[in-house]
Amino acid sequence: MKKRVSVASILGCTLLLSCTQTTDKSDIDLRVEKLLSQMTLEEKIGQMNQISFWGNSEELAPQVKAGNIGSLLNVADATIANAFQKIAVEESRLGIPLLIGRDVIHGFKTIFPIPLGQAATFNPELVKECAQIAALEASATGINWTFAPMLDISRDARWGRIAESFGECPYLTGVMGVAMVNGFQGDNLSNKTSIAACPKHFVGYGAAEAGKDYNSTNIPPLLMRNLYLPPFEDAINAGAATIMSAFNDNDGIPMTANKELLTNVLRKEWKFDGIIVSDWTSTTEMIMHGFAKDDKEVAEKSVNAGVNIEMMGMSYITHLKELINEGKVKINTIDDAVRNILRLKFRLGLFENPYVDEDQQNVFYKEENLKIAHKAAEESIILLKNNNNTLPLSKNLNSLAIIGPMADAPHEQLGTWIFDGEKSKTITPLNAIKNKYDETMQIFYEKGLEFSRDRDKSQFWRAVQAAQSADATILFIGEESILTGEAHSLADINLKGAQKDLVRELKKVSKKLIIVVMAGRPLTISDELEAADALLYSFHLGTMGGTAIADLLFGETVPSGKLPVTFPKEVGQIPIYYNHNNTGRPADNTETHIYDIPLEAEQTSLGMTSFHLDAGLKPLFPFGFGLSYTTFEYDFIKLNKHEVTDNETLIVTFTLTNTGDFDATEVVQLYTRQLVGSIVRPVKELKAFQRIFLKSGESQKVTFSLPIQELAFFGIDGQRKVEHGSFKVWVGGDSNAKLGEEFMVVR
Ligand code: NOJ
Repeated sequence: MKKRVSVASILGCTLLLSCTQTTDKSDIDLRVEKLLSQMTLEEKIGQMNQISFWGNSEELAPQVKAGNIGSLLNVADATIANAFQKIAVEESRLGIPLLIGRDVIHGFKTIFPIPLGQAATFNPELVKECAQIAALEASATGINWTFAPMLDISRDARWGRIAESFGECPYLTGVMGVAMVNGFQGDNLSNKTSIAACPKHFVGYGAAEAGKDYNSTNIPPLLMRNLYLPPFEDAINAGAATIMSAFNDNDGIPMTANKELLTNVLRKEWKFDGIIVSDWTSTTEMIMHGFAKDDKEVAEKSVNAGVNIEMMGMSYITHLKELINEGKVKINTIDDAVRNILRLKFRLGLFENPYVDEDQQNVFYKEENLKIAHKAAEESIILLKNNNNTLPLSKNLNSLAIIGPMADAPHEQLGTWIFDGEKSKTITPLNAIKNKYDETMQIFYEKGLEFSRDRDKSQFWRAVQAAQSADATILFIGEESILTGEAHSLADINLKGAQKDLVRELKKVSKKLIIVVMAGRPLTISDELEAADALLYSFHLGTMGGTAIADLLFGETVPSGKLPVTFPKEVGQIPIYYNHNNTGRPADNTETHIYDIPLEAEQTSLGMTSFHLDAGLKPLFPFGFGLSYTTFEYDFIKLNKHEVTDNETLIVTFTLTNTGDFDATEVVQLYTRQLVGSIVRPVKELKAFQRIFLKSGESQKVTFSLPIQELAFFGIDGQRKVEHGSFKVWVGGDSNAKLGEEFMVVR
């Protein structure tokens, strides 16, 4: 039990309840009930209303005082937060403090890699640390709730919000989601540096048709259960305090009105006792969907489906009372919603500690925060090509050309959703390389293009001249932050502007061409890959991206990032993902191209299998892929048993050897496949991974313990269980892992 000095008592304890000094569960329930019993219907509905702050304190203050607003979003300043809390706690009738929410997605001031980049670290401990720091910095300003992590499975690189996701794999997304929830929330929500997490967007939003934001989804029930819901269930089991309903309609039902999922699955099945908040006006947007005729019907459908807080829509505050009077909404529904809201406010310790120290600005950008930001950036970068050991570069180069619109783009490097991060604090690759090597090598810097979409080639000659004069060229290309994130989807994911031309020109003159792609999504980079001697892919890396890239380029550290999403060769291959089902006619690695087909060839000449004639079968890179400066070998896979029951644990061991010249970390991955199921099962599913550090030449026996219950899924009867039969397990460095063994799950 936690003892706290109660602010309410210092303030004369206007509300008796708030003087209790614990955050114990049963105690909280008692306090919730007691407070609820004192509330008018208007005050209850007020708790369900969330409004954004736009500098409009004068407009909002009387509403807070009247108890018409239970939470604010977008306050990110301690003085303003305290002022609002003071009105809520000292001037409103019942003194109920406010929830203050903000999109703290990948850092508050210190910005970490975008979530897609964080996923590429395959390092949940590190992801947790990033979230911890984000919470530490954000909570200093009075923020007590973040709208993260985003757990939308993303199989479509056109979708701008893939940047905010952990990629295409439900297992990796679940692991990273739990890590983030734990990081934000800490051991106890009532710690001053903890903030409530909000897994979003419940559910299926990432499956938007054509990758167009807010678009409809068509996810059938079993796929919903087996692919889209699991990361949310993981996050709820980890104690996530809130959850956000999504914008999309699935099979015609907007998620914000989906009672089956919001109430039956989330509340009844998963026993979630936190808050369900709508997305920003996802309630009233049901009118545009054609699912509700007016705001009143919106309020009725949303609240009855289970949405507790309406973000910005105003339909609750306007219509809920009327709907209660008409009997269309039950008072129990309102009471339950308010219980959830009050419960979180008690859990956060807000009744005892509504205020923050206004003199806490020194928590931002602390050295240890920047250190973690550097580490996360470093581990998230993926080496995709390294011909003839081009990398690492020698520190004894005489000269180096640094070129490209992303080499010194402090804002673009931060990525999407950086309301509070400041570009003035960003270390770009140009800064970092110059800081370290300006004394010892001649560094020529030419942008070539002003920004990633720039089509003006008039400065190319300068870039070419620089490249010609240098021992090596490092070209930084990619996409600006604004081309990614919410409502920023693309139909073409090739490099924009004249970047492709710049690559071609530099290829002609560079002694060695190293390309660094900085982006918020997988871009189609086949041509650039071919042109480059070495290519590093970095998702938008945040504040410390520059130092991380510099360290990798010059071998201070060795790349260990792995792709959290399959990279297509061409946009037309999308959706392309590793955990697909087999067709009845799977292609056998064929890459036959239209230009190889003889004229008037027989219809059946290519074998009647499933692939694109112009793009082949394979992606550019599979999920899980990433090179190192060293090489790793996987050998001697061994299972403890070849027949296991569904309550046993399979022990898989193998030998990993670092066969190259660098000490390095490998992300070892374990995949399984159920060979025959009651429904068609994915050809591979990631079930476990570990980061293993080995010195050059060293070998290690690696052990994975796989509880057979991890193989459970929702089958043809709609029940979640392990099905008996044959399985295969593989270990390897990516989802093409070949070292495998079969085993049986038996009764
Ligand atoms: C809309 C976005 O979809 C959601 O992710 C975000 O948290 C809210 N706006 C609040 O900014």
